[in-house]
Amino acid sequence: MNEKELVAHHAANLVQDGMRVGLGTGSTANYFIQELARRRAEDGLQVTAAASSVVSTMKAQELGLPLVALEHLSRLDLYVDGADEVTPDLTLLKGRGYDLVREKLMARASDRFLVLVDPTKLVDRIGARFPVPVEVMPFAWQLVKRRLESIGGSGGLRQTANKDGLVVTSYGSLVLDMVFDPAFDAAALNAFLNDTPGVVEHGIFRGLASAVFVGVDGKVDEHWA
Ligand code: A5P
Repeated sequence: MNEKELVAHHAANLVQDGMRVGLGTGSTANYFIQELARRRAEDGLQVTAAASSVVSTMKAQELGLPLVALEHLSRLDLYVDGADEVTPDLTLLKGRGYDLVREKLMARASDRFLVLVDPTKLVDRIGARFPVPVEVMPFAWQLVKRRLESIGGSGGLRQTANKDGLVVTSYGSLVLDMVFDPAFDAAALNAFLNDTPGVVEHGIFRGLASAVFVGVDGKVDEHWA
C-alpha cells in the first residue's frame, strides 16, 4: 500500500453510519472514494456522499456510492480531500484541478475537513512548489492580473496540456496561475485575493483544515488544527 492509499484508508475508517461525506478530487481522494465504496459494499456502511468535481462524481457513481447534489445540502459531517501544498500552520494550497469553488464551499460547510497528503506536499510557505491558482470571471482576467501584478505577482492564464487553448473550469471561469514574492505571506495574500473583484475563488485554504494526515514510512502522522 502506498502512502496516499494508507492515509486514505485511515480517513475512511473515521466515517460512521449516517454521515454525509464530501469527496475530494485527485489521486489521493480517489483512494478514499474507493475505500469508502468498499466499506459500504462489504461492511454495510450507511453513507451519503457529495462530490467536489465532475471527475469525483463519476468515480463515486462507478463505485455505487449514493450521491446528493451540493445544492441539496446545508452541511457535511466530513470532507476528505488532498492538497498540493501544506504549511506547518495547516494552510493549504489547492486547485491544480479546476474545481476550487466547490472544494472551498465543501471545506467551509463541513464539521471536519480532513486533508490527506504524502510528505512531498509539506512546505515552509504557500507557493513554494506551485503557483497560486486564481479562478477569474473570463471578462475580468486582465484587470485581476494587473491588480495582482501591482503587488509583485507574475504569471498568466492556465493553458491546456498541449498548449493549444485555455483551461476553462467546470463553471466557465479562467484560471490565472500566479507566483508571488515569498515575503508576501499566505495570510496577506489570502486577504488580498479575497478583496479582489473578478476573482471567483483562489487556491489558498486558510483556517479550514481540521486535520492533515501525512503518510510516512508506512504509518500515518495526524496533525490537528
Ligand atoms: C484538486 O483541485 C486539488 O486541490 C487536489 O486536491 C490536489 O491536486 C491533490 O491531488 P493528488 O491527491 O493527486 O496529489
